[in-house]
Amino acid sequence: NHPFEVNDKGHLVIGGADAVELAQKYGTPLYVYDVNIIRNNCKAFIETFDKMEVTAKVAYASKAFSSIAMLQIMKQENMCLDVVSEGELYTALQAEFPTEKIHLHGNNKSLNELRMAIENDIGCIVVDNFREIELIGRLLKEYNKQMDVLMRVTPGIESKTHQYIMTGNEDSKFGFNLNNGQAEEAFKLLWNHEFIKFKGLHCHIGSQIFETDRFLIATEVLFQELKNWKNTYGFIPEVLNLGGGYGIRYTSEESPISYDIYVKELVTEVKKHVQMLAIPMPEIWLEPGRAIAGNAGLTLYTVGAIKHIPGIRNYVSVDGGMTDNLRPALYQAKYEAVIANKASAPPISEVSIAGKCCESGDMLIWDLPLPKVDHGDILAVFSTGAYGYSMANHYNRFAKPAVVFVEDSQDKLVVKRESYQDIISHDLSYE
Ligand code: LLP
Repeated sequence: NHPFEVNDKGHLVIGGADAVELAQKYGTPLYVYDVNIIRNNCKAFIETFDKMEVTAKVAYASKAFSSIAMLQIMKQENMCLDVVSEGELYTALQAEFPTEKIHLHGNNKSLNELRMAIENDIGCIVVDNFREIELIGRLLKEYNKQMDVLMRVTPGIESKTHQYIMTGNEDSKFGFNLNNGQAEEAFKLLWNHEFIKFKGLHCHIGSQIFETDRFLIATEVLFQELKNWKNTYGFIPEVLNLGGGYGIRYTSEESPISYDIYVKELVTEVKKHVQMLAIPMPEIWLEPGRAIAGNAGLTLYTVGAIKHIPGIRNYVSVDGGMTDNLRPALYQAKYEAVIANKASAPPISEVSIAGKCCESGDMLIWDLPLPKVDHGDILAVFSTGAYGYSMANHYNRFAKPAVVFVEDSQDKLVVKRESYQDIISHDLSYE
């Protein structure tokens, strides 16, 4: 199910490296990424657009996993970058990511964020609300600069995903609603603005979505509005940003279609509407996050306590949990895992993998079939590359794990494990 192999010792292999040796070398919990998978995910998107001869920009949504090394890879793979905060923008600047390829998102961008974006001449701001239009206008005037802007719209579509990661529904904090005239009101402020170069629309309907029909319906809704704006104001969009959101396989219950089919379906839909409107093909922008990083990463843990409750359950506790992977606790997200040092042994029973936080909800996987589990075994949880490290937290004052990249059998530490000193580094004495 997962793109990793097993070597002749029966150990899981990631990027050509023995996962058990990586755990010994760097300690656990440990995030490990196969860099070739990251690169191939980027290429799958870019090459499909190229083959279809469509001008496109593929922006990695860096909220999925941002670090200097990750962004350097995105730079090497000719990706653009979606950032949503000063911290993500700062990381991009430190990685020397080309600023003209950075797009700024966020439903409550601060004055400082906007200032940082404008001072660094980033490529585009995706405007989310009326206050921002005013702030951006004011700042651009102050700097006497012009900037490309897209408008994030809310198409009023329920995507089939967890409620917390649905964003295109009518009752959403994000963007300008299309169904109640807000978007048109915003359009009038943006269009022909002295400093804002209004390029087109942005729409992100949610995350971990498998049905392409949701994206196609969203596209159709955008074009209904664009038709209105063309007929009423003569507006022709130069850019159409269809967001991120394409789902990945976490467990064998999920079977996403390949990214090239997804891209092809989107492009075909856009072309259909473009022809009906008789306008030139706009640039298509996408913002995959999970699809780039998710299946390239896994987390290694060491098994500690094992609790057997006769007739009820076996709890196998590992040395991490909701501090390094919040997704099961937050979204009831499901994962699969193997014992990295017994990767070819057949399962003999089901166990439940518990984290070590003081919280009953800190369960990583329920009812996972595994071979006999012993203390000291290395558990590898698959597909933790997106929204794992990036949502890691300090609950119970756990240190954030290290991140290792492996490419062609070469491993490299790219984020250091936090120390106890790091944990208290911002505390000040009250004595
Ligand atoms: N573009 C925008 C405007 C977004 O809001 C997001 C995700 C993306 C792109 C990237 O979406 P992706 O391709 O990764 O699905 N923490 C949640 C996911 C929240 C996503 C928020 N926005 C999770 O762990 O599932």
